[in-house]
Amino acid sequence: MKAFPKYPNLYENGRFLFTASAYPGTCHFEERIRREGGLEYREFRPDRSKLAAAIAKNISQVGIKPGNNVLYLGASHGYTPSFISDMVGKHGMIFGIDVAPQVVRNLYFVSQKRNNIAPILANCNHPESYQHLIVQCDILYQDIAQRNQVEIFLKNLQFLKKGGFGILAIKSRSIDVTKKPKLIFKQVRLEMEKKITVVDYRELDPFEKDHALFVLKK
Ligand SMILES: C[S@@+](CC[C@H](N)C(=O)[O-])C[C@H]1O[C@@H](n2cnc3c(N)ncnc32)[C@H](O)[C@@H]1O
Repeated sequence: MKAFPKYPNLYENGRFLFTASAYPGTCHFEERIRREGGLEYREFRPDRSKLAAAIAKNISQVGIKPGNNVLYLGASHGYTPSFISDMVGKHGMIFGIDVAPQVVRNLYFVSQKRNNIAPILANCNHPESYQHLIVQCDILYQDIAQRNQVEIFLKNLQFLKKGGFGILAIKSRSIDVTKKPKLIFKQVRLEMEKKITVVDYRELDPFEKDHALFVLKK
């Protein structure tokens, strides 16, 4: 396993990405596990995670550090959150929000094995409904395929500390299926630049068609 110095707790083995598990002995998504030097590594797949796709496409940084508190909007079943859970480690915390009860149920089972994930059933259009359950965060991660995904991110920016990083996955077809993805990404970039510094961005094809991931700094 070869470590990536610019991403915490991330390793490559050939063309495959891995995290060293912060909770060895847990496997939630039938991910491939490798054991080496007393550590357990979980394969992090770019075709299943937009964060892994951006890393596979060599995004310059993602901002995540051990011990970080993360507000994760659109946590779903917890695939990407489980790898961020490895990256922030046992001293970090992920507040994972999703509006769909079925997926939050699965996220709950993941959190039973990973104490650094707190599942929250809520609608991210209404931050006032969960603001009492979370803390100010170092990372605001969003992966919500809704027409108003930019508006949702901006509504939740209040929970990101100054100097903290935003990671925003954009699905262009959810914003406007008639417009070229590149045009949508340009519009999102211009809108973001009014509020926050754009550090880097990657289009995610061939892993995710018509998607991009932005790294932002408050
Ligand atoms: C593409 S999935 C997220 C996948 C996940 N980020 C991963 O990589 O493992 C998008 C999720 O956003 C959730 N979602 C959509 N609208 C939402 C809203 N208004 N508030 C919270 N979650 C929402 C959906 O229920 C869905 O689980």
